[in-house]
Amino acid sequence: MAIKVYVISFLLTSVLFSLLYIPTRLKIPIHNFKPVINYFNLTTVSSNSTTKPYPVTFSYLISASKGDSMKLKRMLYALYHPGNYYLIHMDYAAPEDEHRDIADFVAGDPVFGQVGNVWVLGKPNLVTYRGPTMLATTLHALSLLLRTWDWDWFINLSASDYPLITQDDLIHAFSDLPRDLNFIHHTSRLGWKLNKRGKPMVIDPGLYSLNKSELWWVIKQRALPTAFKLYTGSAWTILSRSFAEYCVVGWDNLPRTLLLYYTNFVSSPEGYFQTVICNSEDYKNTTVNHDLHFITWDTPPKQHPRSLGLRDFRRMIMSNRPFARKFKKNAPVLNKIDRDLLKRHRGQFAYGGWCSGSNGKTQKVCSSLQSENYGVLRPGSGSRRLKSLLMKLLSTRNFKKQQCR
Ligand SMILES: *[C@@H]1O[C@H](CO)[C@@H](O)[C@H](O)[C@H]1NC(C)=O
Ligand SMILES: *[C@@H]1O[C@H](CO)[C@@H](O)[C@H](O)[C@H]1NC(C)=O
Ligand SMILES: *[C@@H]1O[C@H](CO)[C@@H](O)[C@H](O)[C@H]1NC(C)=O
Ligand SMILES: *[C@@H]1O[C@H](CO)[C@@H](O)[C@H](O)[C@H]1NC(C)=O
Ligand SMILES: *[C@@H]1O[C@H](CO)[C@@H](O)[C@H](O)[C@H]1NC(C)=O
Repeated sequence: MAIKVYVISFLLTSVLFSLLYIPTRLKIPIHNFKPVINYFNLTTVSSNSTTKPYPVTFSYLISASKGDSMKLKRMLYALYHPGNYYLIHMDYAAPEDEHRDIADFVAGDPVFGQVGNVWVLGKPNLVTYRGPTMLATTLHALSLLLRTWDWDWFINLSASDYPLITQDDLIHAFSDLPRDLNFIHHTSRLGWKLNKRGKPMVIDPGLYSLNKSELWWVIKQRALPTAFKLYTGSAWTILSRSFAEYCVVGWDNLPRTLLLYYTNFVSSPEGYFQTVICNSEDYKNTTVNHDLHFITWDTPPKQHPRSLGLRDFRRMIMSNRPFARKFKKNAPVLNKIDRDLLKRHRGQFAYGGWCSGSNGKTQKVCSSLQSENYGVLRPGSGSRRLKSLLMKLLSTRNFKKQQCR
């Protein structure tokens, strides 16, 4: 009898433990995600402020490939802000010393170390040009950023992009916006893309091979989808946290079904988020039809952006957009952007309240975190420019009328 009771209680305990074990399994630390620095040090900075010292925060994915490390470092300084989060992805195919160079650069910067908000993806992906591995990398970054930090918007950039306003401007301009807005440029008029994108099928060897190679084209073509409507647009997007979570978790299966469909689609980054959001009843009303990037294209078919130079400077400012692409390494126009728009000195950070001196006594160079200024914003004319663009986009004349048409 005593043995029976003992066995039953043993069984009950083990059932209980296994129940406890299931939820904890989901919370095991991320093994393949190695922050180069200890990010728990952030608490040393923010301990005196409220938990969220800035009104809104952004998380960035910055993608780079072979030969991009110089551009990446410069851009990171131009884009850095202690309130944001930065995840760097260097293509798996980049040489070993370039991976090490970036890791050393991030680990060696005293400000990045002090705040701990810049990470390098420890297990990078092999990315094929125009292949679904580009999209997989973005979703990979989203899932890491979602489970690690609390941010409001996700911004996808490459090492050839550059900001046209300071991060203080960006944070200030976005602080009045509803947090559920998604900036996704889109259209359902596919034009030439109908035959060149909707029908062909490709296979991306980057999904299963260790060697870099081009996309494979399947000889047969497929019909256009009838279960959902296809949209296309710009690969540069700003996603809300809620929509990012929907795409990663996929609780109603639409994001997952479309991801499987887009596995064989040429240039899936130009269509995936567009098609998901416009086919989702819950999210389509949150779409703003704009990518907030200044890009000048070649003459049709608009597949290759032109490199920007000094002659584009005026139009870049007039566009009121916060980002531009693409720039060649050390292009002279970058020096002008640094000097006139970002107030950035060579090798230093762009201007911001966090690094300029206290009591209005502004410091010439933005080189270190002034702890007492953590949480202080000093927006300038860039914020006013961006706000006027946002007001135009969100006006009743534009916002609803350009949604998922
Ligand atoms: C925090 O950073 C300091 C240097 O800034 C370092 O000495 C210390 O070990 C770090 N703390 C943790 C918990 O890593
Ligand atoms: C915390 O901030 C308050 C003002 O916001 C200041 O008076 C106080 O000295 C600060 N404390 C520390 C430990 O820095
Ligand atoms: C994200 O940014 C990269 C730039 O490196 C771009 O190639 C890609 O298409 C973007 N969009 C998505 C959805 O991945
Ligand atoms: C893949 O790359 C390795 C090293 O560069 C090379 O030895 C191997 O032959 C390549 N494999 C294929 C199938 O191209
Ligand atoms: C989205 O907007 C349309 C038209 O304005 C409205 O009928 C619909 O209920 C809205 N959907 C949600 C989920 O709010």
